Amino acid sequence: MLHEILKKAQELNFLGNPPIDDHIRNANGFFQAIQNFSNGTNEGRIYDLGSGGGVPALILIQKLEKWSFVLMERKEKRANFLLEAIKMLNVEARVEVICDEVENVARVQKYECSADFITARAFGPPAVTAENACRLLKKDGFLVVSEPPEETNRWTHEKLSLTGLTPVKYLQFQDSTFQVLQLVNTPKDNLPRKPGTPRKRPLW
Ligand SMILES: C[S@@+](CC[C@H](N)C(=O)[O-])C[C@H]1O[C@@H](n2cnc3c(N)ncnc32)[C@H](O)[C@@H]1O
Repeated sequence: MLHEILKKAQELNFLGNPPIDDHIRNANGFFQAIQNFSNGTNEGRIYDLGSGGGVPALILIQKLEKWSFVLMERKEKRANFLLEAIKMLNVEARVEVICDEVENVARVQKYECSADFITARAFGPPAVTAENACRLLKKDGFLVVSEPPEETNRWTHEKLSLTGLTPVKYLQFQDSTFQVLQLVNTPKDNLPRKPGTPRKRPLW
């Protein structure tokens, strides 16, 4: 069923061209990172930024059966596709799809400071991803970001401290690489700024 859903995502151009198994392998790297940092806890809340065609979110949802998820996607057609997918996977009870800008979701009290983990694949450059993620994470929660191959040092800028995030581990699983960051301080009050601003005027 998952394969069929991801194939459909590709047909609709919501998911990049590599074979479905490559996407699943990359998502499994997110799974490994979450396992490594969840300290034996086997339930909690995971938010996925810019879920698009469902990678890594749909794979994680199937593998982490006791966890609840919030998938955020601003494009309506993609969000509707994700809603259909979670119905097909029969996981509606623990998965929410929000069609909105992450910047807006981060300002809704229910979602502020509430994620144990945030995942982000191809959401944006580090400054954009960090700004969007920071207010959604619980104190000490983790942001897991898939990294482009051969770029190992994207997260060292001094302005990262404005978000409260700090890099804790660079991980490699098979041919995928990931940066894990932890929310160690409260983000600056004005972050994230209004939708579009993190991209137009990145913090660094
Ligand atoms: C390049 S796609 C990646 C999708 C998926 N994570 C993957 O790796 O296949 C980025 C997605 O993030 C969504 N997106 C970008 N900025 C967003 C924002 N501020 N709020 C919500 N969704 C956003 C886009 O609409 C797009 O579907």
